[in-house]
Amino acid sequence: MKRKGGQSRPIPVNETSVADLIPTKSSLGALRSAAAGCRACDLWKSATQTVFGEGSPKAAIMLVGEQPGDKEDLSGRPFVGPAGKILDEALRLAGIDRNEVYVTNVVKHFKWSPDERGKRRIHKKPRSSEIQACHPWLDAEIRLVQPRILVCMGATAAQALLGNNFSVTRQRGRWVRSSLAPKVIGTVHPSSILRARDSESRDSQMQAFVRDLDTVARALKMKPAGRTENGVRQRVGQNRSTEKRTEKRAEEVRRSVPVPDWRADWRE
Ligand code: URA
Repeated sequence: MKRKGGQSRPIPVNETSVADLIPTKSSLGALRSAAAGCRACDLWKSATQTVFGEGSPKAAIMLVGEQPGDKEDLSGRPFVGPAGKILDEALRLAGIDRNEVYVTNVVKHFKWSPDERGKRRIHKKPRSSEIQACHPWLDAEIRLVQPRILVCMGATAAQALLGNNFSVTRQRGRWVRSSLAPKVIGTVHPSSILRARDSESRDSQMQAFVRDLDTVARALKMKPAGRTENGVRQRVGQNRSTEKRTEKRAEEVRRSVPVPDWRADWRE
């Protein structure tokens, strides 16, 4: 390509959009292979590899985080590092089997910068252009898995999927209307629990996270009500008693997680 003045401009690799890479006959395997060569933004340059979503293609629950961290970048698998350990423990406490969920991220490459000593790779928040560039992969994952419940963990995931006005602080743990899945909910990112200032606040944040996942577990076990007027009435009644039961279970969770053993595990 020639610029004015005759200089040639190198074609930036990120001119290939993800939409061009998505195979027409998609399967998660085909998507994963195509994503391995994604150059839709510059993050691939400093990352080890693309970290694609993982889990059952028929999962009823899809959990979406922000982007892979250091451990995920090295292993090529989402949520296997410290935040993943918190997530595993919270899922366990809420009675959700990690093998039955699909876990993925809004951005599929690790964005980082070196610490002052150049020894550690420090997580950097992705820019909105990077989130936009990567979005078609997530859209394709949602389209293929068709989860009954979509859980956005943290502001980056929640705002990418539910709009910039979504506030995790104000709206976490409550179902929100969305065309992405029958049930959609936002909650905190498990890494926020790692950043808690002391163990007391870490415990209470963990309990709140488990409560949100508990809401998800309850919804999953609820039978879909019929579409008749009776069914609607029944569903409203059911929802009321479910709310009460959820609150009761939440109270049990509050009491049952005072000194969780996850704290011993997540430290590297
Ligand atoms: N944080 C994320 O958002 N995703 C991961 O896979 C790991 C940490």
